[in-house]
Amino acid sequence: MQKLEVLGANKLKGQINISGSKNASLPILAATLLSHKKVYLNNLPNVKDIETMINLLQSLGSKIKFNKKKLIIDNSKQNKKFASYNLVKTMRAGIIVLGPLLAKFGNAKVSLPGGCAIGSRPVDIHLKALSKLGVKYKIMQGYVHATAPKGLIGSKIHFPKISVGATENLIIAASLAKGTTILNNCAIEPEIKDLVNFLISIGCNISWVSKRSLKIIGVTEIKETTYSVMFDRIEAGTYLIAAAITEGNLKIRNVIPNIIKTEIDILRKIGAKISIKKNEIRIKGNKKIKNINIKTAPYPGFPTDLQAQIMALLCKASKKSVIKEDIFENRFMHVAELNRMGAQISTIGNKALIKGNTKFAAAELMATDLRASVSLVLAALSTKGKSVINRIYHLDRGYENIEKKLKMVGAKIRRVS
Ligand code: UD1
Repeated sequence: MQKLEVLGANKLKGQINISGSKNASLPILAATLLSHKKVYLNNLPNVKDIETMINLLQSLGSKIKFNKKKLIIDNSKQNKKFASYNLVKTMRAGIIVLGPLLAKFGNAKVSLPGGCAIGSRPVDIHLKALSKLGVKYKIMQGYVHATAPKGLIGSKIHFPKISVGATENLIIAASLAKGTTILNNCAIEPEIKDLVNFLISIGCNISWVSKRSLKIIGVTEIKETTYSVMFDRIEAGTYLIAAAITEGNLKIRNVIPNIIKTEIDILRKIGAKISIKKNEIRIKGNKKIKNINIKTAPYPGFPTDLQAQIMALLCKASKKSVIKEDIFENRFMHVAELNRMGAQISTIGNKALIKGNTKFAAAELMATDLRASVSLVLAALSTKGKSVINRIYHLDRGYENIEKKLKMVGAKIRRVS
């Protein structure tokens, strides 16, 4: 099993190009199932989750090839409606093929994603909302068996809770439904807006009617498209924190700074010096890190996907900070590993109390999920000595060329088998 060795305490200096967004690419790939015309996608990140989604689409009959860095998807002969456990179990986003398969064929059998390290992660909101479009479903032996006897029919849906995945599934499904669908209380993550823009580019009729409401008029004509996926805002946030935690000086390129305003404001409050240009952010870490209280929230709040990384940084603050995790029930697995490096973090329910003033000590560590793993890399980068991070397949799910990007800005990091 591969590990990362990090020899820490180098101030990171230079520039990092941010890759395309994993979380925007996944629903866009699923949405290509709606099209019988060719789709050309640019800027997909080269990470394991994207490979898994491509395998899932191929198992459904999609013809996919790479031409230089462009992915060409031909779903004109795509005809299978069964998404197997083997492919969905490693990546919860697999459930997003349910909406497009139902829209296209009126029936589908898709594995439930099952539990995962950061909580039980049910799909009840997806299923209840789909039933409002005329879908009947049963859950048998770990699979959702769904049919829409009369096809999907537009409806008015109010999501009981903000869910990124459920919003995506419903937007895609409603795009080919008969009539008009109104979706209220939608997630408005930038990745959702990217999905909507992609769907509009293939001919779907979708408009924002208020901040969290969408109007979708089902269409019958789909067009060929070439689309470029947005930047990965979580990757960008991670490297901004890498600069702050190593007192480095980094230029983060290929981003839209306005999209990550919340994160930039928080890093400024903590003491980082940040300047912004059109598509890049310059950040200079400060020796003194100020404490702050943060709670995770749906966009435009602070993202749960950066909670572990900011916690590593707050361990070095001069006073106590509190982080409240309001999205997932069990997203503190990194706490035990950060404490093994010398942090003093205690958790009560969904709150983590971070004592601050930590001088991390290098250690042998275990990655537990995607974002928890990268928080260990950040802590290791900030401290003298050699840390070893095991089970880095979690990191490879979502960070493109992480050690190459870090090496280019002066980190001593290598992958060993
Ligand atoms: C997506 C992101 C993930 C991010 C999360 C929150 C992708 C591929 N993944 O995950 O990186 O951390 O948004 O920003 O884009 N819930 C239910 N029932 C449901 C669906 C969700 O109870 O049917 C709950 C979840 O357990 C969680 C909360 O709602 O507590 C938010 O989950 P959701 O927004 O759906 O996250 P994902 O789409 O899975």
